[in-house]
Amino acid sequence: MICCTNLFSQTPTWSESIASIIYNNCSSCHHDGGIAPFALMSYVDAVDNHHEILDAVIEKEMPPWPADPEYRHFKDEAVLSEDEINLITEWINNEAPEGDPDLAPAPPEFIDSGSLLDTIDFTVQIEPYTLQYDEDEYRYFVIHTDFTETVYVNKIEVFAGLPSIVHHADIYYDESDESATLDLLDPLSGFNGNTGYPSVDYYMNAWQPGGNIASYPDNWGIEVPPGVDFVVEIHYGPGGIGLIDSTKMHLQFIKDPGDDVRPVYVGWLLNGPATGSLIIPANEIVTFEQEYTLPVKKSFISICPHMHLLGKSYKVWYEHDGDSVNLINIPQWDFHWQKYYTFQTVQVIPGGAKIKAVATYDNTSGNPENPNDPPITIYNGPTTKDEMLMTYFIYTNYKSGDEDIILDSTYVNSVFNYEDAEAGTFNVYPNPATDNFIIHGNLFNETTVSIRLINSSGQVLQKKNILENVSAINENMNIKNYPAGVYFIDIISQQGRSRIMFEKI
Ligand code: HEC
Repeated sequence: MICCTNLFSQTPTWSESIASIIYNNCSSCHHDGGIAPFALMSYVDAVDNHHEILDAVIEKEMPPWPADPEYRHFKDEAVLSEDEINLITEWINNEAPEGDPDLAPAPPEFIDSGSLLDTIDFTVQIEPYTLQYDEDEYRYFVIHTDFTETVYVNKIEVFAGLPSIVHHADIYYDESDESATLDLLDPLSGFNGNTGYPSVDYYMNAWQPGGNIASYPDNWGIEVPPGVDFVVEIHYGPGGIGLIDSTKMHLQFIKDPGDDVRPVYVGWLLNGPATGSLIIPANEIVTFEQEYTLPVKKSFISICPHMHLLGKSYKVWYEHDGDSVNLINIPQWDFHWQKYYTFQTVQVIPGGAKIKAVATYDNTSGNPENPNDPPITIYNGPTTKDEMLMTYFIYTNYKSGDEDIILDSTYVNSVFNYEDAEAGTFNVYPNPATDNFIIHGNLFNETTVSIRLINSSGQVLQKKNILENVSAINENMNIKNYPAGVYFIDIISQQGRSRIMFEKI
């Protein structure tokens, strides 16, 4: 025998193990022109920052994903596995060797300005604004529309003009002229709280760095009446004085919305504590509970707990008929990384369910984010130094089949009870498909198997039943006559069911 280094004790190298982890989990923000302060696009970049990388991955600060993945998984979950963290740790503790550069994957390519939408129906473009302050700044921008009919926004894509300075951008619409009037009172582009706060009728969406396109299932959209003004609120972080921002948002509307269009609502259902008021005494750590009884069944897409700088943790779940269903847990609140978390499948919550939350605030000087030294009593209010306790949701009225809608394309809901992992795994190819596709996979001899083709509104379009002993599926499905979009295939047998998502183009 010639060998015998134990393979598993070999130091991982950049080329063979680490580059792919960094490129897949870090580079989307850490590249030139991205939102992070330095690039992670090469071996040299990683070595130059290796101490900070080690701390950031061990502390689970990076990639930023404050939600606890063990409590609930979400779409586009950005979490390193324990194996990945161990590999990075081992690599850095062993002087971060490069290995054979020929084996390293190529760094990913990013287009920071091109749109990923199929069509851009409207661009919400702010007038260029030269930042006036070197500290946190909130500013409102008003963009007129001249739609003559109600539109339904199905997708929103945001391009921050100053990616490393724009901390968040919210979009509202205002049916009155109040925001436009305030805008006229300030000679610069937009206005801030010194001029006044806009009257905003409807809160549409929030964007934070690293946020992906907000998109709803086909035929679901945020209703925008004709003639409104869009109001964009931007939070600029420190360090931007003198720089010019020209943030924009692309909107894609539902084409020809018919009577069956599904209006999507964005708003808080839980606001403030279940009893008493939100008062956080100086030098105390306080916990509040929230509760809301949902009157009728609704279909939820996303959830976003909201607090400010004193926040410490936030957990939301619902109870119904003796069951308790986890919605989200943020064990270490991070004011800077708030986001809408999108469920992997539409989360239907029954009427009568009690949605509950528990949130803790730390108003001691032990909280490094505490804006007051010494601490003072803090109340509910709009500025960053006040506090809030709100759980926002994006949802719509329930329609049968909603529970089967998958929102996360990487999610395969396979619940086959096979011991053999090979069976009960299916794939669809080609994907995306145009006219036909084949569904392929293995089963253990089953007597009946049903294959269903479902559209993104949950409607069954085709059903094939195979009524003989089947150990493999190899079915050709015709989709020529269906519109482009997202579809699902359900495979159902006595042993369980599996759902696969695919796209028709
Ligand atoms: C969603 C965007 C995003 C992703 C993904 C991301 N980062 Fe960051 N990273 C940032 C931003 C923005 C900052 C600066 C502000 C901050 O620290 O929150 C930062 C800061 C850092 C820092 C500076 C120290 C620190 O903790 O603040 C390190 C190190 C770092 N990132 C490493 C990584 C690594 C390693 C990954 C992948 C495993 C990663 N980041 C993924 C956006 C991101």
